[in-house]
Amino acid sequence: MSKYLDNPQAVRALVQEDRIHRDVYLSQEIFDLEMEHLHGRSWIYLGHESQVREPGDYITAEISGRSLIMVRNTDKSVRVLMNRCAHKGAKVVTERSGNTGRGFSCPYHSWAYRLDGTLAGVPLRQGYEGTRMNDCESGQGLVKVKNVKVYRGFVFFRLSEIGQGFEDYFKGALYALDNMADRSPEGELEVVGECLRNEIRCNWKIYLENINDTVHAPVTHESSAMSAKAVWDEQPEGSPKPLAMELLLPFAGGVDFAASMGGRVFPNGHSVLGTNTSLHSNYSAVPEYEEAMVKAYGKERAHAILSFAPQNSIFYPSMAVKAAPQTMRVLRPLGSNRTLLEVWAFRPKGTPDVLVQRTLSYNRLVFSPLSVVAHDDIQVFETIQSSVRSPGNDWVSLHRGFKADELGSTDYASDGANEVLMRNQYRGWAKLITEGMTRGDGAPFPKAVNA
Ligand code: FES
Ligand SMILES: [Fe+2]
Repeated sequence: MSKYLDNPQAVRALVQEDRIHRDVYLSQEIFDLEMEHLHGRSWIYLGHESQVREPGDYITAEISGRSLIMVRNTDKSVRVLMNRCAHKGAKVVTERSGNTGRGFSCPYHSWAYRLDGTLAGVPLRQGYEGTRMNDCESGQGLVKVKNVKVYRGFVFFRLSEIGQGFEDYFKGALYALDNMADRSPEGELEVVGECLRNEIRCNWKIYLENINDTVHAPVTHESSAMSAKAVWDEQPEGSPKPLAMELLLPFAGGVDFAASMGGRVFPNGHSVLGTNTSLHSNYSAVPEYEEAMVKAYGKERAHAILSFAPQNSIFYPSMAVKAAPQTMRVLRPLGSNRTLLEVWAFRPKGTPDVLVQRTLSYNRLVFSPLSVVAHDDIQVFETIQSSVRSPGNDWVSLHRGFKADELGSTDYASDGANEVLMRNQYRGWAKLITEGMTRGDGAPFPKAVNA
């Protein structure tokens, strides 16, 4: 019997004010509801404008069980289309990226589409004369995603007709994305290279929680951080610091450092961690870059941009950025216990190569499957997915730092060790998913009770 499918009250009860029920990780019904209501009604990151510079350039992605194409149209606009042939449903584009010329052609019976998705031609057209084909969905071509927003080059979409507008949905949090783009003297970013992909055997929310988890680092990453520190401590004073050391040594900061970072939460699960300081605050200066920034923005503004270096800014539920090393993580849920992680690198336009070298080194050292950091995280995430099933405790604790005044607050600041950033993810989760299940009839978020 279905436990959650038609029962928003039961779904809402999975999120209490200071803890969450393990079914949010484990239940396939919950996963299906998330894909339909949470991911369907939210603004989801698809790709970056710089990946489709010229008309005909496209990328494809599998997101929340839907196949999508992002393409640069002849009028230079970015379009998002369902990658589903209007004839019999075949996937029209099978490559991850490329240039399709003036249109798409389906590999099954060669129905042809323009870059805006409209039907350009079908073989054996006379066979359709006098039929209803032109008047029904099939005659309209590839389904167009209507709600698309390009913000500072980042392309987001919302599948559902119902839902908040882009600015309202990300209200408050967008300053962190602005900061990342503003780190270019030209105010623009571009993707560098391909991404690192890693399929992880855990629920997507376990990974996303960790992006807000400062306290695990001194524990989970102790072996790599302390090994780096031990090697560095043996070097003669005044030795030049290698890039890898610069990137890894901050991981040796303890719990006090975690607390000192500071964080802010926003509605719908978004957050900025590291509002005071972060792992990325003390990278060595690049004088040529700083000069270019001062020239572009003036001294005061350039300083404000560069001194704000959050650890992670989450644009719930699909992506998180690190503005200072110019890197982005994108989460694509594949199942209740499978998640695809993509890690992307960006170049701020008009900056020296050393910045990109830092970005790529960071991604290799920290996020790649062969890193000295990510494998420890992934080991833990995958154990959670199985061990959380153990009998005797159905709940996951998010109690640390809980204060009643955080409930209902739309812009709440905390120390960096406070689990409010994770609690906030689940408050967003519960609101979005149950609003979707109740067709947005406005049932208020409950004052949770501890059972
Ligand atoms: S399924 Fe695409 S042309 Fe037939
Ligand atoms: Fe970690």
